[in-house]
Amino acid sequence: KEILLLNGPNLNLLGTREPSVYGTVTLQDIERQVQSVCDPHGVTVKAYQSNHEGALVDAIHEAMNTASGIIFNPGAYTHTSVALRDAIAGVGLPMIEVHISNVHKRESFRHTSLLAPVSFGQIVGLGSLGYSLAAQALLDHIYKEEK
Ligand code: DQA
Repeated sequence: KEILLLNGPNLNLLGTREPSVYGTVTLQDIERQVQSVCDPHGVTVKAYQSNHEGALVDAIHEAMNTASGIIFNPGAYTHTSVALRDAIAGVGLPMIEVHISNVHKRESFRHTSLLAPVSFGQIVGLGSLGYSLAAQALLDHIYKEEK
């Protein structure tokens, strides 16, 4: 059993990137947190980050054959990418969208998510904890579906 933890552009810089907005937790810390939520359920977390839109599309396509769901912080592509939205719609896997910051409190260009209509749910503004909550929700959803 596997889920994909997918992070988009600039999230490799977590820990040092605008700490007043994104905190000081690193992406590696987040990947470990999510794995520790999944461990008791025997679920493996495949973690992937890319700054490239097409590479993220490829990772979503690959997940179709390997994963039961996706936790996805698309970073700035959230607000721009029809290609990522179509990829999620295309593979048909449940996807939970995570944003570390409260995008609704920020610039208006961050208020729109092109991915929201193809997400199972969204977690916004709860910092790195949002990823762990997303993992819980995704596991719950996947297990319910299997029952
Ligand atoms: C973000 C919010 C986006 O607007 C921004 O471009 C990011 C990070 C977040 O996690 O809060 O890169 O997705």
